Amino acid sequence: MAKQKENAVVHSQEQLADGIYSMWINTEAAKDAKPGQFISMYTTDGSKLLPRPISICEIDKENGRLRVVYRVTGPKTGTEEFSKLKAGDIIPVIGPLGNGFPYEKAEGKKVFLMGGGIGVPPILELAKQMDCEKKQIVVGYRDAQTFLKEEFEQNGELYISTEDGSVGTKGNVMDAIRENALEADMIYACGPTPMLRAIKQYAEENGIECYISLEERMACGIGACLACVCKSKEKDAHSNVNNKRICKDGPVFLSTEVEI
Ligand SMILES: Cc1cc2nc3c(=O)[nH]c(=O)nc-3n(C[C@H](O)[C@H](O)[C@H](O)COP(=O)(O)OP(=O)(O)OC[C@H]3O[C@@H](n4cnc5c(N)ncnc54)[C@H](O)[C@@H]3O)c2cc1C
Ligand code: FES
Repeated sequence: MAKQKENAVVHSQEQLADGIYSMWINTEAAKDAKPGQFISMYTTDGSKLLPRPISICEIDKENGRLRVVYRVTGPKTGTEEFSKLKAGDIIPVIGPLGNGFPYEKAEGKKVFLMGGGIGVPPILELAKQMDCEKKQIVVGYRDAQTFLKEEFEQNGELYISTEDGSVGTKGNVMDAIRENALEADMIYACGPTPMLRAIKQYAEENGIECYISLEERMACGIGACLACVCKSKEKDAHSNVNNKRICKDGPVFLSTEVEI
């Protein structure tokens, strides 16, 4: 069934780090949301018609609320407009969208939950819902502004990397795995493409089942416009080309299914 646009209501908003905001919204989309899905958030600026896709960071079904954590990309952008919203303000959204992480497959496994930069937020709800033998959360930041760190600590074994070396391992998430001699038999990851490319290669070299959440510029966000395709190994059943729509078929893919 096609998802309807609804007027969600801001419950609360706070700043977590330079340019990074956390917002809880009251929304119908909380009812059947799962980790790794996203919502499309609309601005009220008439010159910006397209919604902004933002991952679900936390789900509170009981109170009908979702949390998003996002980075303001610059002045006069959609994300800057969102950062000014206050409790009680209306924000039109559609969701939940996309497929989400197949976290049930982690049962009994040793898992890496990996996030980098603004790909870190969806890893939080994933960590909360995952039931596995060993939950190793490996997250990478630019510097000491390690937003969501305390919440990750409560939901698994936490390993941090920072580009400037101010916290944890100096370097990226792969350096943190090497430095701590970590091992896993399953990987879930979200972050910038170069990070996902390195994780995909590591997983395939070591025969590890790996799910990656891809990011691409989106327009419709619901599978209709083909703005967000990535190259896939198999041909798409409908279009007969080697494409997958990140918004509808993803954003989460088995790493061996896609070329990045
Ligand atoms: C599945 C998915 C989940 C995401 N989750 C998060 C998140 O949790 N937190 C977060 O901070 N950011 C997330 N992003 C990136 C976020 O969507 C962009 O930063 C945001 O759309 C930029 O909008 P803007 O108005 O600030 O910037 P502008 O550059 O003014 O946006 C212009 C247009 O480009 C689109 N656009 C720009 N950058 C992106 C991008 N990287 N991906 C998709 N569309 C883009 C916008 O939707 C808009 O239509 C996610 C992207 C995707 C695809
Ligand atoms: S954004 Fe339109 S098909 Fe994905």
